[in-house]
Amino acid sequence: MNTIVNGLQWGDEGKGKIVDYLTETADLVVRGQGGNNAGHTVIVGQDKYILHLVPSGILWSGKQNVIGNGVVLDPIGLAREISTLEQQGVTITPDNLLISDRAHVVLPYHCDLDAAQEQARGKFAIGTTRRGIGPAYSDKATRNGLRMADLLDSSLAHELVSVRLEDANQFLRAHNIPTHDPEKVLEEVESGLERLRPHVANTIPVLHDAWKAERNIVFEGAQGTFLDIDFGTYPFVTSSNTTSGGACTGSGLPPVAIDRVIGVCKAYTTRVGEGAHVTEDEEFSSYLHGLGREFGATTGRKRRCGWLDCVLLRFACMVNGVTDLAVTNLDGLDERKEIRVCTAYNLDGVEHAFPPAQRDSWTRVRPVYETHPGWRSDTSGCRNWEDLPRNAQNYLNRLAELSGAPVRYVGIGPDREQTILL
Ligand code: IMP
Repeated sequence: MNTIVNGLQWGDEGKGKIVDYLTETADLVVRGQGGNNAGHTVIVGQDKYILHLVPSGILWSGKQNVIGNGVVLDPIGLAREISTLEQQGVTITPDNLLISDRAHVVLPYHCDLDAAQEQARGKFAIGTTRRGIGPAYSDKATRNGLRMADLLDSSLAHELVSVRLEDANQFLRAHNIPTHDPEKVLEEVESGLERLRPHVANTIPVLHDAWKAERNIVFEGAQGTFLDIDFGTYPFVTSSNTTSGGACTGSGLPPVAIDRVIGVCKAYTTRVGEGAHVTEDEEFSSYLHGLGREFGATTGRKRRCGWLDCVLLRFACMVNGVTDLAVTNLDGLDERKEIRVCTAYNLDGVEHAFPPAQRDSWTRVRPVYETHPGWRSDTSGCRNWEDLPRNAQNYLNRLAELSGAPVRYVGIGPDREQTILL
């Protein structure tokens, strides 16, 4: 059984926890896109782990984790993340972590280019994580990128970085950002690279062998559908395909290898960074922040919170081919008297079931809401569907109806056991 786990909103849906839950029966956990712009928090007992690039299967023994070719990888950041995990007692060897030799690398100048580009965008800034993701994927697309295989060949790496920096430095200079020297860049990366070297491999045959041997593979999506470069709220998106297709192009396993797509959404909607958020609600945001919830794992920024947007959810279930829905953070709604759900967008008096493509439409659409009674009781101790209050069950049933996919998992807290299976 090969499973893709994707976010159906703007990231931070709690995919890490669902992947962690599935990993018990998985043999391999694979990341196929994104970089260390992602942040997954996994709680195991008293311990809290924050993962950016390392797949969450690393927290289990006997699982092979793979960072696929579609990921953009910051070698310094990854080496640091591995070291932090090791300090927390996690053993990391090539037996449980492989890195694709085709994965593109994020170098220090990519982060500065990210900052310079944001500066140049002025009022159209995207609010990126400044992790160099856009510039690294741009270099990949314009064929100026370096892959892990290139970086490991030091003379080739020097040549490629030198050529790239001629152009990149001009851009940085124009934005009053310090320029980079090829020697220094490679020196800086070297220590991280040494730690990563034994893990670098041609991961594609490894995945195909696992598929042929009918081992269970879980694809851990990063970010969410509306940050997808094709299907998201462009241009306020990230630079990769965060939807299910990205798992295939980002790993080398073909679509016919996929058996199931689990779409993860919160019981409400959150977003970090700029861009449309039709159901954003200030009062509800402050309420969740007041509970200590909804602060970004990567940047610590406050997430912008709003009601569940089923226009987005419906579209996300379509483009990902969601077979199973996982609804997380249901407990965030526990104390609310009334809960709103957006069923359609009203654009200039006309109702729409799907999100618009036109940039200016996003500022004009108004949510069409229906209101549900809250359940006003603590769901965090519920372990079965029957334990959930009737109003919570009704809410979840309506969510499934509006999105067109069945609810199979419900998250009611951060702990491993706080997931209800339907
Ligand atoms: P970038 O991926 O750093 O280029 O940022 C582009 C947009 O995606 C910004 O709005 C970020 O806040 C958002 N973003 C990127 N990664 C994540 C994530 O893992 N969770 C939530 N938002 C993200």
